[in-house]
Amino acid sequence: MTTPTFTPRVFSGIQPSGGLTLGNYLGAIKRFVQMQDAGMPTVYCMVDLHAITVWQDPSDLQHNTRELAAGFIASGISPEKSILINQSQVPEHAQLGWIFSCVARMGWMQRMTQFKDKAGKNTQNVSLGLFGYPALMAADILVYHATHVPVGEDQKQHLELTRDIATKFNHDYGVDFFPITEPVIEGAATRVMSLRDGSKKMSKSDPSDASRINMTDDADTIAKKIRKAKTDPDALPSEAAGLSERPEARNLINIYAALSEQPVDDVLREVGGQQFGAFKPLLAELAVSKLSPISSEMARLMADPAEIDRILARGARQAREITVPILEKTYEIVGMVR
Ligand code: TYM
Repeated sequence: MTTPTFTPRVFSGIQPSGGLTLGNYLGAIKRFVQMQDAGMPTVYCMVDLHAITVWQDPSDLQHNTRELAAGFIASGISPEKSILINQSQVPEHAQLGWIFSCVARMGWMQRMTQFKDKAGKNTQNVSLGLFGYPALMAADILVYHATHVPVGEDQKQHLELTRDIATKFNHDYGVDFFPITEPVIEGAATRVMSLRDGSKKMSKSDPSDASRINMTDDADTIAKKIRKAKTDPDALPSEAAGLSERPEARNLINIYAALSEQPVDDVLREVGGQQFGAFKPLLAELAVSKLSPISSEMARLMADPAEIDRILARGARQAREITVPILEKTYEIVGMVR
């Protein structure tokens, strides 16, 4: 539960570690826009410091950070309504991240499934940053006293850890200083799956490009990927219960529901009984109509990177009006001589 004394503020972030996927868009960015437009104070972040927990070519990182900023703006994040930043320009994230590294326990970190997935069998050879990542993520959120964090399903465990860190800090220092953040994991597309395998998450790191829709894909590519998406031979059911054992069908229906902003039941009332041969072109048409304006606006924004840099510099100034006092107070609580 959010402590009532904290005024609502939304924070979320995305790694600039490669192209944006439909999973990022539906699971995160689309909902960032909704929360912004609902009038909540919102801070959205390109988490460049997180990205370097695995190797990033420096010029790719710069390009990807600007392209992600363009993706945010093209999707409807307004720099007039939201604070839009890249993490490294707001040094308080990393500073609070260190303090939280001293609050979090090794055992907590060792339970993180994302670390286990990313490290695989290679735990001795991955960066220390990859292991400590969730402490920095907690700092990203709590350095704003953010109360609400919209994310996809895969970030749930990290947000539970953020709550544990806030609770332990408050307890150890006898304060009620950090809010206990609410994860906001809602809607039909909290876990968009691979188009090639309904049991795997759609991910920018999947070796198969056909497994995902990239926000920069053109209309033909999107249509082709949907046409080739894995399905089963049956017709679509008329009720959501009929999707329970059909991961690929469920995924395509969820994508349709999220893109068209309708409940799954309404979609199935419309398309139940159809074969995939009829449904896939509908989905492709919907996806193209929603995504093409975003990708062409991204391309337009990327033609003027200096303007993107100005937006991010201004965002960083606005952000620091919030983060500097919170970090100062944290240092004071911890006992640092200032
Ligand atoms: P990242 O960069 O992996 O993903 C960014 C956001 O996109 C969501 N997402 C998905 N949602 C639905 N279906 C999918 N297939 C899919 N793939 C990705 C993610 O859940 C996420 O919301 N650790 C975070 C970044 C981060 C952060 C933060 C987030 C750093 N600090 C503070 C929130 C608050 C990450 O790696 O997300």
